[in-house]
Amino acid sequence: MLKTVVCVSGGGTNLQAILDALDNGSITNVKIEAVISNNAGAKALQRAESRGIPGILMTPKAYPDRESFNAAFTEEMCRLAPDLIVLAGFLVKIPEEMVCRFDGRIINIHPSLIPSFCGVGYYGLKVHEKALERGVKVTGATVHFVNEGMDEGPIIAQKAVAVEEDDTPESLQRRVMEQAEWVLLPQAINAIANGKIRVKDGKVRCVCRMEET
Ligand code: GRF
Repeated sequence: MLKTVVCVSGGGTNLQAILDALDNGSITNVKIEAVISNNAGAKALQRAESRGIPGILMTPKAYPDRESFNAAFTEEMCRLAPDLIVLAGFLVKIPEEMVCRFDGRIINIHPSLIPSFCGVGYYGLKVHEKALERGVKVTGATVHFVNEGMDEGPIIAQKAVAVEEDDTPESLQRRVMEQAEWVLLPQAINAIANGKIRVKDGKVRCVCRMEET
């Protein structure tokens, strides 16, 4: 069983997609050990609680500076000792020491086709606003391993989504979630849990195609 910790900040629809995939058997060999949120009001925490999964609040606001938060966050993660950390809409930058300790075991979902519309300042609705401003006809989502950079780690999987003429940032966000994020993230977790994807020398090694997982 892959001991997994999911980090969240908001609605937790990606967390829900993972829980649903566990229920219907499309993710196997995974146990969600805990859900960590930086936001006490995150609906994601309620979703965890309703499943009996421990919810942990870990917010920079509770610490005098970023350094002490980073140390406490890393310590908490070491205590949980997960095999896999899933960032599912988590808006806090992962401390470098945690990336080091869990190298190749942290994944993130980003709501664009990286390297477009990613990096510092590209989160939530802003990603979709920028995509519409630029007039792209196709966008999507990416699951990638996390390194010290912002949305820069090795790419595991991507799924394209068409932009429609009358899209608003909200309608595009919804379509990207439904058609890409909620599909891709559970698939990637299942593939990792079943030894089908790993990272080696900074490169993602897939031993099968994602669709077959
Ligand atoms: C998703 O679009 C995710 O890709 C982004 O933040 C959003 C979080 O949504 N990083 P939710 O909390 O999973 O509903």
